[in-house]
Amino acid sequence: MAWVERTARGEIAAGAGAGVGKRRRVRPVALFQIAVHLAALAPLALLIWDALHANLTANPIQALEQRTGKIALALLVVSLACTPANTLLRFRPAVRWRRPLGLYAFLYAALHFLIFIGLDYGLDLRRLREAIFEKRYALVGFAAFLILLPLAVTSTKAMMRRMGRRWTRLHRLVYIAAPLVVLHYAWSVKSDIRVPLLYGAIILLLLALRTRPVRRGISRLSRSSFLDPKGFWEDMSP
Ligand code: HEM
Repeated sequence: MAWVERTARGEIAAGAGAGVGKRRRVRPVALFQIAVHLAALAPLALLIWDALHANLTANPIQALEQRTGKIALALLVVSLACTPANTLLRFRPAVRWRRPLGLYAFLYAALHFLIFIGLDYGLDLRRLREAIFEKRYALVGFAAFLILLPLAVTSTKAMMRRMGRRWTRLHRLVYIAAPLVVLHYAWSVKSDIRVPLLYGAIILLLLALRTRPVRRGISRLSRSSFLDPKGFWEDMSP
């Protein structure tokens, strides 16, 4: 198992010989970080593999659209869950994963959009305009994408610093984008909307967890109960 060593100043040193001379606490941090990136990229690798091996159902373009759309939504929800995972479960590493997971969500959403405009509609602007403005599911998907775009563009540390409080306000728009994506999903599947409803319920719950009364209640609970699994999670924090 690849363990990572952390110096007293918080620097991470991996591999044999890195810790010579200084005794450090050993933590499986890098393994966790790598696992997050691999988990986010694995569906893309699988998608490329299936595309190269003609393994994408009888309607490959639709399969590509549906798979990239589903992955984008799932990652968006996981990125939204990072803050409550920190505040509720004291799972501190989650805070560091929020931004990369959000960016991965955008990567899949952008692929989804590119497949739609490039493969599905052959970049035919007239047909695209008709599709987006005449199909309600496409219109809300487009609205969600337009919201996610500036969030992705401003996701660098430099932009965070430069925008200050405006950055936080801007990034709250994700709580508008996520329900729009759920609506887009529900309208695109037409019949069985149980999965979109489940996503909708999770997003509602994540939104509720951000409200002040719920946060206050949780922090009161966590001070006095089992909701404070400190030992384990804090040991995992980078
Ligand atoms: C311009 C923006 C968008 C367009 C034009 C678009 C278009 C589409 C299309 C054509 C489908 C497949 C419908 C079908 O034949 O079954 C779809 C499904 C889907 N899209 Fe989008 N989409 C957009 C934005 C987004 C965004 C931003 C997300 C997520 C972040 C997203 C998530 C989904 C999901 C979850 C599905 C359902 C997949 C399924 O049926 O299994 N879409 N979208």
